Amino acid sequence: MKSKAATLRRAVLTGAIVMGLCTGSGMASAQTLTRPWNDTTLSPDARAKLLLAQLTQDEKFQLLHSYYAGPDRPADKPFPKGAMASAGYIAPIDRLGIPALEESDAGLGVASSSRMRPGDHATPLPAGPVTAASWDPKVAYRGGAMIGSEAHSKGFNVLLAGGINLTREPRNGRNFEYAGEDPLLAGTLVAEAIKGIQDQHVISTIKHFALNDQETGRNTINVQIGEQAMRESDLLAFELAIERGKPGSVMCSYNKVNGDWACENDYLMNQVLKRDWKYPGFVMSDWGGAHSAAKAVNAGLDQESAGEVFDKELYFDAPLRAALAKGEVKQSRIDDMVERILRSMFAVGVFQYPAGKAPIDPQVNLKVARETLESGAVLLRNEHDTLPLDLTKLQSIAVIGAHADKGVLAGGGSSLVTAMGGNAVPGLAPTTWPGPVMYHPYAPLKALRDAAPKAGVQFAEGNDVAAAAALAAKSQVAVVFVQKWQTESLDSPDMSLPDNQDALVEAVAKANPRTIVVLENGGPVAMPWLDQVGAVLETWYPGGDAGKAIANLLSGKVNPSGRLPVSWPADLSQLPRKDLPAAAGGTPPDAVDYTIEGANVGYRWYQSKDIKPLFPFGYGLSYTQFTHGPLKIDANGYQLKVTVDVANTGARAGADVAQVYVRVPGAKASRLAGYSKVFLKPGEHRTLTIPLEPRLLADFDVNKHGWVIRGGQYSVAEGPSSETLGTAVDVQLTAGKL
Ligand code: BGC
Repeated sequence: MKSKAATLRRAVLTGAIVMGLCTGSGMASAQTLTRPWNDTTLSPDARAKLLLAQLTQDEKFQLLHSYYAGPDRPADKPFPKGAMASAGYIAPIDRLGIPALEESDAGLGVASSSRMRPGDHATPLPAGPVTAASWDPKVAYRGGAMIGSEAHSKGFNVLLAGGINLTREPRNGRNFEYAGEDPLLAGTLVAEAIKGIQDQHVISTIKHFALNDQETGRNTINVQIGEQAMRESDLLAFELAIERGKPGSVMCSYNKVNGDWACENDYLMNQVLKRDWKYPGFVMSDWGGAHSAAKAVNAGLDQESAGEVFDKELYFDAPLRAALAKGEVKQSRIDDMVERILRSMFAVGVFQYPAGKAPIDPQVNLKVARETLESGAVLLRNEHDTLPLDLTKLQSIAVIGAHADKGVLAGGGSSLVTAMGGNAVPGLAPTTWPGPVMYHPYAPLKALRDAAPKAGVQFAEGNDVAAAAALAAKSQVAVVFVQKWQTESLDSPDMSLPDNQDALVEAVAKANPRTIVVLENGGPVAMPWLDQVGAVLETWYPGGDAGKAIANLLSGKVNPSGRLPVSWPADLSQLPRKDLPAAAGGTPPDAVDYTIEGANVGYRWYQSKDIKPLFPFGYGLSYTQFTHGPLKIDANGYQLKVTVDVANTGARAGADVAQVYVRVPGAKASRLAGYSKVFLKPGEHRTLTIPLEPRLLADFDVNKHGWVIRGGQYSVAEGPSSETLGTAVDVQLTAGKL
């Protein structure tokens, strides 16, 4: 990663060139004399105001919309001059030293993929649920910092990252970009990823605001949900992540919420985001998410993204100027929009630390990706200590399926990263949007061969089930890789694995009881063969250097410590909405009813309905054993702190997560209110102090317009998963407002 000092040197040089001044100690003050907004001792707000005052009306309008800079632009839309190929571009205003905004898709790495920039590559992080499953803020921060530094070194200063839509729908094609079903876990970890990005002087978005929790009908569907329910679920995740991560921009989503498009939704943008949360940054529309000029602007949208290609028309130019002339929009609002954009640029350091070509160390960055998977892969099953494998002793290992001889699967759509080495399995359908289907070239087969040099490690593709079973039968262990490609713009109609893979696993498990399944998938899948296999390791889309991470996890060099950030339903009948109409094609319905579960997303739904999912939220196995408890609570008003002792009683080093759940009076479902991950050597123990988030003890009161403690007896329990809790301790809280 590039050092701060190196970045600063480049910043100073660029400033000197722009100013045409000699370098030396007089430069900074000369620069701030002529351009007082460059005075870094002033607040971002003050600097934005100073610069705003210098802008002409045309320059203001220039900042209010980006252009699409993809090579697949329609022929009648010329490529924006000076842009790098990317999702969005705003030209610089040189006379005032305002840099261009160069926006790349992101979240799982700099997605200026081969689709955008043939020949370019970046380091792919594992899927979002892997980072969430780490339950480790440091892991999320490091991943963010890694992709932020790559973006900066490629010349991008905006990353369209921060995916945080809650997993209400396990079939959602984009779950792999997000951070699971729980507002606290998602909110706290996505905040860290955003901080990591922005500490590299790259603005991060948080997206998609809000309730874009499925892809089916995403451009038309109206999400129906009550105000209290959304404030306590999806919006709480955004609230926590925005408060802690301070993203420079919020991307409003495609869908409607309670009748209004998210990008012209006064409730979401003006009332919640800007009034209640006092958000000082800017809202940009999703690509094709803007639907008007005056209505959108007056509802709080600050910048239209690539409207000339994706919206019906480019609203934030001529139509907005016309609306202004007619008095439908005020000049003060135009100024506010511009000021918000400039403020975020100053706050993140976009002026001071210009993005530009700089060397990237791919090995250092791959290590970040590998360690993310090593922290977040979840061991779902491990009968009779099937794992870890002693790779030094095994003579024969069968590796089967999922192109494990070539690489690991990635999820599809705008977040797709092209890794160094390109697509390991090119040509699979669909090859165009939302494709290509991409395999990152980090083959588990090679990594297992490297880790077990004395064993014969043989590969079977898996298409020929009998051949795979025969290989498994003559091997001491069979490792079967199974996969499900999921993508932006499409949900999965069901939870099944495609391409006869269930039959493959069953046949292999029958041939060899020491069968280990490694899953590469976007969200929970049905596993009809679960009882027949020895072990299951969930890696979602495992990202950079995944082969090595998987070998490390299977061999026990790394002890799995991921815990599920989603509940894993046994089947679709357990979901709030058993059907997902039009997921398999056809016309989507006009609306989707989220009032069914309301704020009871994921485990809260299962608990409130007495349903037992296959694996509960927070669940994951280890190669060692831990004990937790006893729990003590220290209450100071509504500030609760839990103290709990976690001990490693097994023979291997490993990490566990202390998860604290609260049951508010009268509720059937509990809520995660605090957590802490701890690494312990064998025999070691640690007393953890875990603060509880007061909003998880409260209800959002629509009439009082705030978080309210209903008062009474609150039951607090801690354990290694949402369903494995120690003795609960009751706390009495008096009613009141937070
Ligand atoms: C996606 C966004 C993405 C944008 C730009 C949209 O289709 O929903 O997440 O950032 O495209 O590529």
